[in-house]
Amino acid sequence: ARELGIDSEGHDRPGELRPPAPPRGPSRSRQSSVNARVGADDFEFGRVLGEGSYSTVMLARHRATGREYAIKVLDKGHLKRNNKLATALAEKNTLVRLGAEHPGIVHLHWTFQDEWSLFFVLDLARNGELQSRISRLGSLSTECSRYYTAQLIDALDYMHSKGVIHRDLKPENLLLDDDYRLKLTDFGTGKIVNSGAERAKTWVGTAQYISPELLEVNETSKSSDLWALGCIVFQMIAGRFAFQGLSEYLTWQKIKQLEYTFPDGFDEQAKDLVSKLLVRDPGQRLGAGAPGSENDMKALRSHPFFSSINWKELWTAAAPPLE
Ligand code: ADE
Repeated sequence: ARELGIDSEGHDRPGELRPPAPPRGPSRSRQSSVNARVGADDFEFGRVLGEGSYSTVMLARHRATGREYAIKVLDKGHLKRNNKLATALAEKNTLVRLGAEHPGIVHLHWTFQDEWSLFFVLDLARNGELQSRISRLGSLSTECSRYYTAQLIDALDYMHSKGVIHRDLKPENLLLDDDYRLKLTDFGTGKIVNSGAERAKTWVGTAQYISPELLEVNETSKSSDLWALGCIVFQMIAGRFAFQGLSEYLTWQKIKQLEYTFPDGFDEQAKDLVSKLLVRDPGQRLGAGAPGSENDMKALRSHPFFSSINWKELWTAAAPPLE
């Protein structure tokens, strides 16, 4: 628990998540309601929203305010047995670093724990995963794909500017809020780097979205998120993975050989965009240059596929119909 920044009473140390508690002492011990700490009892838990290997996300209503949240519940025993406590801490640190500034990223409101579990109180994205929409609809319209791609680029740009690489971007981690706007989640594999040049080692990710550099030299950088972006744009429009073999190994072979083909009718500008993201050399992907350079995220935003996007109203204008 210590490693997680959580004190012996089972509460988080104040950290950056809430104002510091008053100093404890006999005379002040009854003042805890002034700086009330949040705990599981403050919420009424509802249905399960999603399940991961080490966690379950549940709908929860904050009793005092009536507000609804998504609470990620992590099993401490399971985390410990699998040496994943550090991963849970990394996820928390990443979420804290990302803060509440960007509308396209799930915000962490509070964390707390009890004897068995760690709890992350997150923004609720009521319309679920983009993945299930793609599955249900078969694919998304070019218009819709353009909109979600633009929102994802804006969220990635912000995240990368804060030094965070997601490393497991996929439509399961793209949630839709009440207004059908995108919210990026699951920073359990996130990595904090201090500069664009710094690279993170060790594998993470999901077979179909893994970049060639991760497979070949076991290195990721911000540009690996751009590779995944290319895979996601392809998938939204085509309704299938860009790279898919009969086994994980065969999928990886296809990725390394850049073996993918566009289906008939795939929008020409989207084709051009995808082909500039699915590039083997991470430094040559569209948007991979340092901020201010010729190939920075501005270059990505300026691609002709986005000519109809109003970037200033990206998070305030109504979302196009999901079709
Ligand atoms: N499933 C996983 N995380 C979620 C969230 N924040 N909101 C809704 N459903 C989720």
